[in-house]
Amino acid sequence: MPVEKNKEYVVEIMDNGFEGEGIAKIDGFTIFIPNTIKGEKVKILIVKVLKSHAFGKALEIIKPSKYRKTSDCETYKRCGGCDLRHVEYNETLKMKQNAVQSLVNKTLKEKIEVEETVEMENPLFYRNKAQYPVGLDKEGNPIIGVFANRTHEIIPIKECLIQNKASQKLAKFVLEFIKKNGISIYDEKARKGLIRHIVTKVGIKTNEVMLVLVINGREIPKEDELVKEVLEKFPNVKSIVKNINTKNTNVIMGKENINLYGNGYIRDILGDYEFKISPLSFYQVNPVQAEKLYNIGVEAADISKADIVFDLYCGIGAISLFMSKYAKKVYGIEIVEEAVKDAEENAKLNKVDNTEFIAGDVEEVLDDLINNKKIIPDIIMIDPPRKGLDNKSIENILKVSPKKLVYISCNPATLVRDLAKLEEKYEIKMIKPVDMFPFSKHCEVITFLKLK
Ligand SMILES: C[S@@+](CC[C@H](N)C(=O)[O-])C[C@H]1O[C@@H](n2cnc3c(N)ncnc32)[C@H](O)[C@@H]1O
Repeated sequence: MPVEKNKEYVVEIMDNGFEGEGIAKIDGFTIFIPNTIKGEKVKILIVKVLKSHAFGKALEIIKPSKYRKTSDCETYKRCGGCDLRHVEYNETLKMKQNAVQSLVNKTLKEKIEVEETVEMENPLFYRNKAQYPVGLDKEGNPIIGVFANRTHEIIPIKECLIQNKASQKLAKFVLEFIKKNGISIYDEKARKGLIRHIVTKVGIKTNEVMLVLVINGREIPKEDELVKEVLEKFPNVKSIVKNINTKNTNVIMGKENINLYGNGYIRDILGDYEFKISPLSFYQVNPVQAEKLYNIGVEAADISKADIVFDLYCGIGAISLFMSKYAKKVYGIEIVEEAVKDAEENAKLNKVDNTEFIAGDVEEVLDDLINNKKIIPDIIMIDPPRKGLDNKSIENILKVSPKKLVYISCNPATLVRDLAKLEEKYEIKMIKPVDMFPFSKHCEVITFLKLK
């Protein structure tokens, strides 16, 4: 091995990887160094050595990049929420574009040029959903915050620069209520105590707010007082929900919700449509950018009134509704039943009558629609979770060969893996990152494919 653990080296950063980390080589051996930028000369400490690569920690930036900036957040170094606050915003957009381009060059037959990342004009306080873990500090006082990078240690935050401001104020108020009333906090190791997480969702356009208390139990002491005090102080709160999670798990929310106030949902507006959002339903965390993303998809698909569209992984039906206006019929498939109910109600709410939503696993439902029900789509919209498409669905897509595909992904690695398989029959016409998660390593990408 050309490098040794706990030894210091001076390296030049030759590139940034697709998680924003700097990449350097020593005698051809690759080292990944977070918080460094292409072109920088850096003194590093090797912290981990594996067979094919090592990880380093930047000790001193000897020659900084012209794109380096001082982070504007006090907890940036320890928090796992942002990864690129040390880089000028415009440069983060190029880093994301380049990272996707490298994956394309490595994996696809056609080395298509990745388009520029769609920027967010005001990339601050953009998240509409916050999930604050509740824990105890060293003195035993209840705190909320964020998990320190890769750990379960909670760092209290003063002001997070990516979370919606209203949700931060609300969560802090609830914490004070918990403290004032001596309500117990969940202890992961002992599996005892009540309050696990405070979750907030905000409708950016409607200003409606949802508060969810995730609890290890069924009752919160002084529930009525909590509701009264929250509503007095935050009149925009339209829904307060208890979410029951008594399992020993990293999954934040349990399956059962009990309404303490309101109907159990809030509304938001995207484009021409109004959406109902429930505690468990997926809704894009950056709606300003989501609207751009959906519009790019609709425009690329160039849908006609004769087209049958499948919207795979449809969540609450946002893209389905955006596409319904131009299509003959849209079928949405989604595994979370609560989200499917939301999607059905959203169609009604918006007077859309050419959509049908099916609850189930895409792998099985797509197979059933195509092979048993013989419904053949002209266009398929695909927006899967990070793991991407399953093999059976790819086979089914290739089998029925719809004339157009739009594939949106929050994980460029699985996206190019799937595109490489679809390339057999499709020409990839567009690959475009959209900055849904400014200053984080995460990169959303929209692609458009046409049958060859
Ligand atoms: C990235 S989200 C996209 C949601 C929607 N297209 C939107 O923009 O709001 C992925 C969705 O896929 C759903 N999902 C995850 N695995 C699934 C599966 N195997 N079958 C169907 N839906 C699934 C999730 O619940 C989530 O709503």
